[in-house]
Amino acid sequence: MDIKNIKKEFPIFKQKINGKSLVYLDSANSSQKPQVVIDKISNFYETEFSNVGRSVHTLAVKATNRFEASRDKVQKYLNAKHREEIIFTKGATEAINLVASSFGKKYVNNGDEILITELEHHSNYVPWHYLRLEKGAIIKFAQVNKDGDVEIEEIKKLITKKTKIIAITHISNVTGAILPIEKIIELAKEKNIPVLIDGTQGAPHSLIDMQKIDCDFYAISCHKMYGPNGLGILYMKKKWVDALPPYQGGGGMINEVKQQEITFADNHTKFEAGTMQTAEVVSFAESLNFIEELGITNIAKHENETLEYGLEKLRMNNSIKIIGSPKSRGSVLCFTLKDIHPHDIATILDEDGVAIRAGHHCCQILHEKLGMAATARASIGVYNDKEDMDKLSEAIKNCQKVFKN
Ligand SMILES: Cc1ncc(COP(=O)(O)O)c(C=O)c1O
Repeated sequence: MDIKNIKKEFPIFKQKINGKSLVYLDSANSSQKPQVVIDKISNFYETEFSNVGRSVHTLAVKATNRFEASRDKVQKYLNAKHREEIIFTKGATEAINLVASSFGKKYVNNGDEILITELEHHSNYVPWHYLRLEKGAIIKFAQVNKDGDVEIEEIKKLITKKTKIIAITHISNVTGAILPIEKIIELAKEKNIPVLIDGTQGAPHSLIDMQKIDCDFYAISCHKMYGPNGLGILYMKKKWVDALPPYQGGGGMINEVKQQEITFADNHTKFEAGTMQTAEVVSFAESLNFIEELGITNIAKHENETLEYGLEKLRMNNSIKIIGSPKSRGSVLCFTLKDIHPHDIATILDEDGVAIRAGHHCCQILHEKLGMAATARASIGVYNDKEDMDKLSEAIKNCQKVFKN
């Protein structure tokens, strides 16, 4: 496989959208799936499907082995120390809800502080809000600066003796800012404060080594990593797997159930209640094979070059305002266009086969700070190239013509 020709590995690009070649610039929302992953899903259903961790028949044993082999694959990919540190969820949102709920239940009390940032996606704010409602916790927001970054000094300033957890994004899905997570984790460790990283936008674009990053929790969205929908991963450091209470109740997460008493599994399965995603977990191993074959550093290099080229191109258009100029930027390019609403931009661009997203991108706090209700966002995946950026730029000019702007 070769990154230059990678589009041909993704069947979605065979079709025309409104008579034009598809320029898919919405990967921060969800990435497209390569043929190998699609094949794995259908092959699993055709030949190997069964529920996992329950029956003892041949198919069930095979499916269970595949499922657990996928956990091993994720452990290896993330360089996590223990396989029990890998918990499957339905998405990054559920991963963060799990931590907020289980950690909050046991460790957060009235007046305790949860430190997040103004960059956070609603998925890394709303789950903590429940602790504000239920426990009287206080949520503190580290402020975003004029470049769309959050500085380490800002985090430092807000830490107090009451800080119970720091929950921050790895890469902003709006300004693209790559946060100094290593420094934040180092700082938090000095004060014995656990750190959750919302790695939704980080994991698809950078090398993630859990032993190196050394955070307590890291949330991943598999559908943004060329993987199936409805699957996320929560990396949870072993000490928390041992210490935290279960999240949801149901089959698979118990040890013994009696009329008056229930005991729970004492490992990661206490967080995996009910029938789990089977084809999704199994096929995600294929997504990781795909990423590994290309090499995540090669992917990141290609995406950075594409992004830089796109930024340069868009900066040449005086009507475009690029949102944020962070010190280092992930694969996200948010912009506004003079006098044209972002939803109109997205609709007109679609006529040229250019798929972008418009709205607040689940970051209303940040948009309020920016003084905007919505922005347009082009986000990049491995299948995008400079030609796509040219087409984006041309489609924007066409949009301006429509609006005589
Ligand atoms: C920064 C960030 N956090 C969390 C999420 C939610 O992820 P999921 O769709 O896996 O629940 C998203 C999705 O767009 C995101 O961009």
